[in-house]
Amino acid sequence: MLCETGVIVLILFTWVESSDSPCSLAMPGLPGIPGIPGRDGRDGHKGAKGETGLPASSNMLTLKGEKGITGLPGPMGKNGPKGPPGPPGDKGEQGPQGEKGISGNHKQQYQSAFTMARATAIPPAKNTPIIFNRVITNDHQDYNATTGAFVCQIPGRYYFVYHASHSSNLCVSLHAANERKVSFCDHMSNTHQVTSGGVLVQLKRGEEVWLSVNDYNGMMGIEDNDSVFSGFLVFPD
Ligand SMILES: *[C@@H]1O[C@H](CO)[C@@H](O)[C@H](O)[C@H]1NC(C)=O
Ligand SMILES: *[C@@H]1O[C@H](CO)[C@@H](O)[C@H](O)[C@H]1NC(C)=O
Repeated sequence: MLCETGVIVLILFTWVESSDSPCSLAMPGLPGIPGIPGRDGRDGHKGAKGETGLPASSNMLTLKGEKGITGLPGPMGKNGPKGPPGPPGDKGEQGPQGEKGISGNHKQQYQSAFTMARATAIPPAKNTPIIFNRVITNDHQDYNATTGAFVCQIPGRYYFVYHASHSSNLCVSLHAANERKVSFCDHMSNTHQVTSGGVLVQLKRGEEVWLSVNDYNGMMGIEDNDSVFSGFLVFPD
């Protein structure tokens, strides 16, 4: 629009100039070239609010779609609670006879054995259990080196024996189950001697066995002159 108006103004201007000129017979000039386009106009006013539309028909809201296709199966559910145990089954048939087993070894089940040495040059105190304090063998600590007594754990028959080095007269008694069972006395005929004694006794669990000396207590426990006390289970009950 602006472009066309510009062209008309140019034409009019050209005509007025030529009518004032003394050379009225001159020819009008050629139209000028169109000007550049003007800037965009401002935004128009906001339009009026439109009319309320027709209410949607209730049919449109309740129309049911077509049934969909069956979905994929869902993931496996959790295990249910454990049911009650069933009744016992029928007795099976008797199996074939097994191979003969290896012979039993009750030594593995029942064992008790000790050998203790007395490691001191001091003669033992009289009428009280002699302490043998150096362990050579002492299964399950059945010989108690604090009290000097063997304590029976497995009832049965036990053999006890001692070998004592001595440099003066020596009398040794063996006590079992609160009884003095045997006594051995050796009176010196040499400067150093070894004396021994042994006995088989029946013991109940918890019964004790120990050795003692009386006034003749020349027992030694030194290098090359040991005194030892041993005991072991021969037959368990
Ligand atoms: C040895 O006897 C003492 C005194 O009765 C006791 O305290 C200790 O536990 C016993 N030791 C063992 C190995 O039985
Ligand atoms: C051990 O006994 C022998 C005799 O059998 C004796 O010659 C030796 O002196 C004794 N050892 C000690 C340290 O008393």
